[in-house]
Amino acid sequence: MQHYNNHIGAIGVFDSGYGGLTVLKSLTDMLPQYDYVYLGDNARSPYGTRSYNTVYEYTLQCVAQLFAMGCPLVILACNTASAKALRTIQQQDLQHIATSLHRVLGVIRPTTEVIGNYTKTNHVGILGTNGTITSHSYPIEISHTFPKLVVHQQACPMWVPLIENNAHNTEGGKYFIKQEILALLNLHKEIDTILLACTHYPIIAPIIQQYLPPHITLISQGTIVANSLKDYLSRHTTMQQNLTSNGTQHYYTTDDAKLFNEKSGLFLGKNIVSTKIEIE
Ligand code: DGL
Repeated sequence: MQHYNNHIGAIGVFDSGYGGLTVLKSLTDMLPQYDYVYLGDNARSPYGTRSYNTVYEYTLQCVAQLFAMGCPLVILACNTASAKALRTIQQQDLQHIATSLHRVLGVIRPTTEVIGNYTKTNHVGILGTNGTITSHSYPIEISHTFPKLVVHQQACPMWVPLIENNAHNTEGGKYFIKQEILALLNLHKEIDTILLACTHYPIIAPIIQQYLPPHITLISQGTIVANSLKDYLSRHTTMQQNLTSNGTQHYYTTDDAKLFNEKSGLFLGKNIVSTKIEIE
C-alpha cells in the first residue's frame, strides 16, 4: 500500500469510479469548509456486476488506503460498495485497519431514513446496479424505517458503462435508459417516487426525466447524503474536531490520471488535477 500521510483530518470519499463525484459535489456545496480526498477505483470499475466478495475486497483495500492517507472518516459514495461491503467492514474490519476514532459510512442508510417523506402512494421505485438491486439492501433497510412502503426495484446494468463512456446522450444510450424506466414503471402503476440508487445516475437525470410522467418525483442522493453528514458531525463532536477545515479537495484514481481529469468534469462541473495511486 502506498502511504500518503499528507491528508490528516480530511474526509475520504470513495467510489468505484466517477459516480461518487456527484456526492462529493453535494458535500462540498453544503460543507465547503472541510478537506476532502476522493478515491476512484477506476482501474477495477464497474463494481456493479462483480460478486459480493470482489466488491468487499476492493472496497476494503480502498478504505484502508484512505485511512492510511490520514482520513479519520470515509464515506462510501457508492451504493454497490455500501450494499455489499459496508456492514462487514464496520463490524469486522474496522478494528483491525484503524483506531477506535475512525469511521466508515455509506449512502444507503441516509437515503432510507428519508425516502418515505417523498411518496404519497407508498410505492417507491429503486434504480441501481445489479449488485445493489440483488443485495436487497434497499427493501430491507426501508422495511425498518418505513414499513408501509412497497419497494419496486429495477437493475440497470448498461447505465454505468454508458455514462462512463459518455454515450448516454446517443440514440443507443437513450434506448437503454428508456427500456429500464419503462420496465420499472410497469412493475406498479402507483409508483410516484423513483430513487437513483447509484451515484452515477444523477448525470442522466435530465434524460430519465423525459421518460417519466410529470407526477413522479425523481430523487438523487447527493443532497441527502450531505444533509446526513452535517447531522452526523453535529452529533459526533470528537469526529468533527478531528477533521481539518482548509477547504481543500484532492483526487486520486487507480487508473490513468489524465483520463480521470478529462472525464471528471462531467460529474463535478469543473476541471481537476488527479494523481494515480496503486492499491494492493
Ligand atoms: N456508482 C456506483 C453505485 O453507486 C456503481 C458504479 C459501478 O458499477 O461501479 O452503485
